[in-house]
Amino acid sequence: MGTGFLDAFAQEYKQLLDSELRLLVERLDAPSIIKESMIYSLEAGGKRIRPLLLFATLDAFGIDPKNGLPAAAAIEMIHTYSLIHDDLPSMDNDDLRRGKPTNHKVFGDAVAILAGDALLTYSFEVISTLPNEFASADTKLKLVIEMARAAGTEGMVGGQVADMEGEGKKLSLEELDYIHIHKTGKLLKFCVVAGAIMAEASQSQLDHLSAFAHHLGLAFQIQDDILDLTGNQQVIGKPVGSDTANDKSTYPQLLSLEGARAALSNQINQAKEFLKKTGLNTNLLREITDLVASRDH
Ligand code: IPE
Ligand code: IPE
Ligand code: MG
Ligand code: MG
Ligand code: MG
Repeated sequence: MGTGFLDAFAQEYKQLLDSELRLLVERLDAPSIIKESMIYSLEAGGKRIRPLLLFATLDAFGIDPKNGLPAAAAIEMIHTYSLIHDDLPSMDNDDLRRGKPTNHKVFGDAVAILAGDALLTYSFEVISTLPNEFASADTKLKLVIEMARAAGTEGMVGGQVADMEGEGKKLSLEELDYIHIHKTGKLLKFCVVAGAIMAEASQSQLDHLSAFAHHLGLAFQIQDDILDLTGNQQVIGKPVGSDTANDKSTYPQLLSLEGARAALSNQINQAKEFLKKTGLNTNLLREITDLVASRDH
């Protein structure tokens, strides 16, 4: 995956996260089809970049990243729900996700919609019942509020709506930035903010980390747009050309491939500048930033 320390860290924590997610779903008392559908998408092989951002943020504060496991599982549940719904015929209408048939192709639209609902709802139960030794009642409340804002109408949902409304239109770069910052950036930013909240960061650390994650989130979606054009379906595990088929505005479509690559590197540089300003040990976060810039899936 990345270089140096991040590889070993990512490998260890991805395994821990997988076990956490499986345990959390298995313990649910519910019809087996909904649990199968949730597990199918959770275990389909995502990159786990959001959990890694949370773990790396805790590490930057010298806190054991294992304390972040339930919160990271909650975030990955929200992200996975968003992908299940994003792929539905009434949204992006895609058949392949994480290298496997999309959830609705296997379980049908109704169960796929409900699996998304189940993951979203469960994520809030998980984050609000974090063990007391990981988070005080006050910290939990802050996490719940920030997670709701990131995923909700003023966050990811708002971005997804603007993305759909923009289909078939030529958007300005400003309008496209609204979409990217909301549909993708807000949840990525929450991963870093959640780590900072758990670590009881100072206001200036929180501000610098938030600014870092804002630029990282935009960079992440610019690269997602680039990969929709230039990626290899076998490697990215989802259809290439989905944006073109849905007549979406994207960075390459507005700025050309060269322009999109320049915008990506500009966002990455800004992200790194803010990271330096935190004064924390941000080696892992920097490696993740490099990975976002160079990822091929
Ligand atoms: C895909 O996210 C959807 C976006 C918000 C761009 P990822 O590229 O993180 O997808 P997975 O989790 O690795 O499948
Ligand atoms: C999706 O953006 C963002 C979400 C909130 C799921 P995309 O529609 O570009 O994501 P992919 O390319 O299907 O993963
Ligand atoms: Mg979409
Ligand atoms: Mg999509
Ligand atoms: Mg995309």
